[in-house]
Amino acid sequence: MPKIKVLPHPEVCPQGVEIEVPIGTSVIRALLANGIHIEHACEMQCACTTCHVYIRTGGESLNSPQEKEEDLLDKAWGLDFDSRLSCQLLMGEQDLVIEIPKYTINMVSEGK
Ligand code: FES
Repeated sequence: MPKIKVLPHPEVCPQGVEIEVPIGTSVIRALLANGIHIEHACEMQCACTTCHVYIRTGGESLNSPQEKEEDLLDKAWGLDFDSRLSCQLLMGEQDLVIEIPKYTINMVSEGK
């Protein structure tokens, strides 16, 4: 079964973690089910960007982004070439390395 390695994040996942995830599983649901409380302000409707992650390895095995995800990503904090919205991702055959951005757009607007 492919794995997701989540790199350490000071608040969400201080030690980092590695989990096994069945192919076809929603990436955000796999993270949440394993105690990684990534934000998902729009309840996974592709409307908020708070579930933004960087796919540092294995991104080519994921489903391609739809136009809605690409448009929304432009508003995400800290956008880079590896950026995806985790609520839109289905686990592929390859292992993933995921980095959670330091901030979300919610945190920035709340002044954290
Ligand atoms: S949870 Fe809102 S865009 Fe993913």
